[in-house]
Amino acid sequence: MTTGDQTAVLAGLGTCLPMEEVDNAALLARLDTSDSWIRERTGIAARRIAGANVSVCDMAHAAGENALKAAGLAEVDAVVVATSTPDRPLPAVGPQVASTLGLGSVPAFDVSAACSGFIYALAVSAGLIATGMAGDVLVVATEKYSDIVDPTDRATAVLFGDGAGAAVLRSGRRDEPGALLAVDWGSDGAGRDLIYVPERHDGYLSMTGKRVYLKAIEHMTSSTLRVLDRCGWATSEVDTFVPHQANKRIIQAVAQQLSLPEDKAVCALERTGNTAAASIPLALAQGQANGTIGAGDRVVLTAFGAGMTWASAGLVWPEITTVESEL
Ligand code: UT7
Repeated sequence: MTTGDQTAVLAGLGTCLPMEEVDNAALLARLDTSDSWIRERTGIAARRIAGANVSVCDMAHAAGENALKAAGLAEVDAVVVATSTPDRPLPAVGPQVASTLGLGSVPAFDVSAACSGFIYALAVSAGLIATGMAGDVLVVATEKYSDIVDPTDRATAVLFGDGAGAAVLRSGRRDEPGALLAVDWGSDGAGRDLIYVPERHDGYLSMTGKRVYLKAIEHMTSSTLRVLDRCGWATSEVDTFVPHQANKRIIQAVAQQLSLPEDKAVCALERTGNTAAASIPLALAQGQANGTIGAGDRVVLTAFGAGMTWASAGLVWPEITTVESEL
């Protein structure tokens, strides 16, 4: 993602999780399921739920504020928000977050690419930086799937959680740690009915789980291979693999297809579930906190979601901090 000399460089991370944790046992009261089914089929033990008093914008604000703090910046040139669950269909979350963060009249908008949203937003922001249209960009991924999931549908209610993650990208050089070296992104609208919310929100999220499962493995594997090729890295040179956190078995299957040792794949969904666009920045924060991701690591991110959409990115992990909070 380089034009001329300017490349997007990761400068800081922030996260925000709602305080309320709902574990599998708490779901048994309303769903015909079991703790063992959920853990064995997904790897999820609990998820965070935002509740009526915490909005998508609230979580985005907190995660964005934390990322700015981590990067040591008070101003940016643009705000790009990835979300598929905005509080309102109109206006976008971006301008509200830019305003409440006191970032002035910068351009601010949303990217809707479901679970691939964070990497899509990174790609768009990297393009703004590479073309000189922005110097520093705040990228925020924020989701409240508890707003669109049927609480009585065991096929989806056990999977999703709420939360937000954010990153600051600054303008830098391609040979610096943190430089976004390559992106692969794509879509296939023929699969639009595999995960959807009905027109005008007339009903809850519907997902054909098994088919999505297979497509997620297929596309995250092929997209990762393309981004590795663009980075000039062999699979064996990847230190840390950060896939979308939908299902532990999907993560294991993709790692296996890539011949990556499973311990190189960050699996951070046990206590947060699938947080859609927020899952990659939340996994990055968790990986950094527990030492799975360290400065100098060759890191590959990959995601897949409704649309269908997929996206991957490669970077050498920089010396950065992550600021985390709860709401
Ligand atoms: O983030 C966007 C991308 N989303 C994903 O990547 C999600 C992809 N899909 C998945 O992760 C998996 O397909 C699921 C976790 C959703 C389902 O796991 P599965 O192994 O594919 O199960 P299945 O849908 O084939 O269902 C197996 C059985 C069915 O019962 P029968 O027909 O075999 O009697 C389901 O009705 O498991 C049943 N089942 C459940 N049982 C207990 C489905 N959900 C549950 C549940 N508890 N929560």
